[in-house]
Amino acid sequence: MSGQLLFTPMTIRGVTLKNRIVVPPMHQYSADKGFPTDWHLMNAGKFAAGGAGLVIVESTKVERRGCGTVGDLGIWDDKFVAPLNRVVSFIKQQNAVAGIQLGHSGRKARATRPWEGDRPLERTPEIVDWDAWTPVAPSAIAHSERWPVPRALETREIKDLVQAWGQAARRANEAGFDVLELHGAHGYLVHEFLSERANQRSDEYGGSESNRMRFLIEVTEAVRVHWPDHKPLFVRLSVEDNAGWGPEQSARLAKILKAKGVDVIDCSSGGITEMAPILGKEIKYSYQVPLSEYIRRNADIMTMAVGLIIHGDQAEQILRDEQADLIAVGREILNNPNWPMDAALKLGVDGPFRNVPPQFGYWLGTRAKRGFGTRPSTWQSGLQEAGKAS
Ligand SMILES: Cc1cc2nc3c(=O)[nH]c(=O)nc-3n(C[C@H](O)[C@H](O)[C@H](O)COP(=O)(O)O)c2cc1C
Repeated sequence: MSGQLLFTPMTIRGVTLKNRIVVPPMHQYSADKGFPTDWHLMNAGKFAAGGAGLVIVESTKVERRGCGTVGDLGIWDDKFVAPLNRVVSFIKQQNAVAGIQLGHSGRKARATRPWEGDRPLERTPEIVDWDAWTPVAPSAIAHSERWPVPRALETREIKDLVQAWGQAARRANEAGFDVLELHGAHGYLVHEFLSERANQRSDEYGGSESNRMRFLIEVTEAVRVHWPDHKPLFVRLSVEDNAGWGPEQSARLAKILKAKGVDVIDCSSGGITEMAPILGKEIKYSYQVPLSEYIRRNADIMTMAVGLIIHGDQAEQILRDEQADLIAVGREILNNPNWPMDAALKLGVDGPFRNVPPQFGYWLGTRAKRGFGTRPSTWQSGLQEAGKAS
């Protein structure tokens, strides 16, 4: 296997990725009142320096009420543009493309950080805007018995929210991001509109499938007004949510979104029930790849595959089998931020250290040329050696 596809550059609209490796949005819960901190610079920076083609900054909230935790990133005001640009500039200096995911937590807002128990937050004096942070959703239906009943949005508020997504896209562009992803998955606000379980509205945003799709379609239209034509737009969907929304609905939606200017569907699953989005039904290598393949074939749109893609040869095979156009590596890149360099080495790509900055690539290259250290500490050629190929 030559590894050619994973490391073949790809142009979407006017933006060229140097390879097909994407760092998917991963919350850091480390913002300060919505502002990025040095942690964000370091975190995005290490992935960009590690050789990924595209680094997507975590779900960043389009309004204050949409924050999941006290540590969520915000983009609901122009004051966030300059601090976000600091992160963008560093990603670009590493010859990677900077992306950002826009999100709104809906009825799952105002929660603890996952490592603090993943439950509704308790009121404390430090949270001065507690009432303004009341969770909102399409309908007054709780996520589960463990979660509070959200306030149902008024129709007028939904129209304001659509504009908030558009303004957030404008700010993302002003901050210098080149790829935008809309978070439509994992049981958060957009997914809540899509779901007949969470959305029991009787106005034009609820009821029939097309009414339930209306919010995301209007958001996409508002975003495309402000997001330049030459910049790619992705949408992440829970293609299967195990609660009434599945691949057929997702493919119908993807076709509509494509006509509205969406380039890539990022294919995830779950989250509308207590089932964790990143676990899914079956925990195995590539567990969400069939969802990506389905959307790619049935909606004729580019897709990104994500979920337990661990090895370079595994990623390469997904591309060769035409199951996806882009490969997102999430938790494994937390384990090894230099995953792209590592994969290039294992796949036998020419100049595996060329993708990364000379500050360390040069030394690893000379070490390899001198015939020593060609096998890094992570050496293992892939699925077969892991003994878990199936
Ligand atoms: C720490 C952490 C934070 C995450 N934050 C987000 C997020 O902000 N937006 C999102 O759509 N998915 C988020 N995810 C899900 C990942 O993007 C990815 O879909 C998931 O981890 C499965 O891929 P993996 O098996 O390669 O990790 C997060 C996952 C992790 C582990």
